[in-house]
Amino acid sequence: MPDTLTPRAPSLYDKVKTVIPAIEWPVFADDIEAILAWKRERNAVILAHNYQTPEIYHCVSDIVGDSLALAREAAKTDASVIVLAGVHFMAETAKLLNPQKTVLIPDPGAGCSLAASITAEDVRLMRKRYPGVPVITYVNTSAAVKAESDICCTSGNAKKIVESLGVPTVIMLPDEYLAQNVAAETNVKIIAWKGHCEVHERFTAAEIRELRERYPGIVVLAHPECPPEVVAASDFAGSTAAMADYVDRERPGRVVLMTECSMSDNIAASHADIDFVRPCNLCPHMKQITLPKIRAALENMQFEVTIDPAIAANARRAVERMLAI
Ligand code: 13P
Ligand code: SF4
Repeated sequence: MPDTLTPRAPSLYDKVKTVIPAIEWPVFADDIEAILAWKRERNAVILAHNYQTPEIYHCVSDIVGDSLALAREAAKTDASVIVLAGVHFMAETAKLLNPQKTVLIPDPGAGCSLAASITAEDVRLMRKRYPGVPVITYVNTSAAVKAESDICCTSGNAKKIVESLGVPTVIMLPDEYLAQNVAAETNVKIIAWKGHCEVHERFTAAEIRELRERYPGIVVLAHPECPPEVVAASDFAGSTAAMADYVDRERPGRVVLMTECSMSDNIAASHADIDFVRPCNLCPHMKQITLPKIRAALENMQFEVTIDPAIAANARRAVERMLAI
């Protein structure tokens, strides 16, 4: 344990006081102080996804954002160690972009139902079935699946990537709903896979109708992993970063985010004037990441993300092609 603890944690409480009850703070403060000290000791940065809980998102992270921002920032950092507070595919993407650096994930079991829905062999079969059609894989996939694809996309750039290829038809894997939502906005024909996000597939248009009846004037934002009927019933659909930007820019009086629960908490912490209605769904994978596990990751340098060199080069090419667009 380094002896450089600084008493920063008490002042950090101000950032989260509207979303974390005072009685719970002492439980977090010790881990937060230790993590801040370990970060300096290890020359580490913590990249946190928007679905991380407020004490992680606001109190220990260096960079927060959607999958695209995390990939971009991972490519830029000059820290020696990257701790990815998010799910496994995000840590793999960070490692692909930083082969010489140590990338740690606090819980290697933090998966994703989309990443689990498709294998590299499935992609090879799709290529055989649709010869010559380029394959776009969502970043929510394993490195092995990325390695079989031409280019990656995220929810923040999917339409742009589809249209950048200049072809009439593309294969877009594995999120069926993201593919359908993008298809609704472009003339490019999209061949999809049947993968779904277990968090976003549960939202329904009926739920939105009820919310609008109960809260007249409410603004409804949805993630494009939601079924198309949910996106159609919403006022705006976009990546987690796009939803946060929308709230910042438009300042709706009352808003509901059809996405993972921590999103609203994290934005609400800095927007006391906005009423967030929260019929959210938890992502059990994102919630595997906790402050004690981040502390243990830095203390013990665990769990290191490694990628089979036989697939890393091709997977990196697909991610870098995306970042170049
Ligand atoms: P974003 O890229 O929009 O942050 O989405 C990642 C994700 O896992 C959403 O479920
Ligand atoms: Fe995967 Fe859905 Fe969880 Fe995002 S919210 S990590 S897509 S299961």
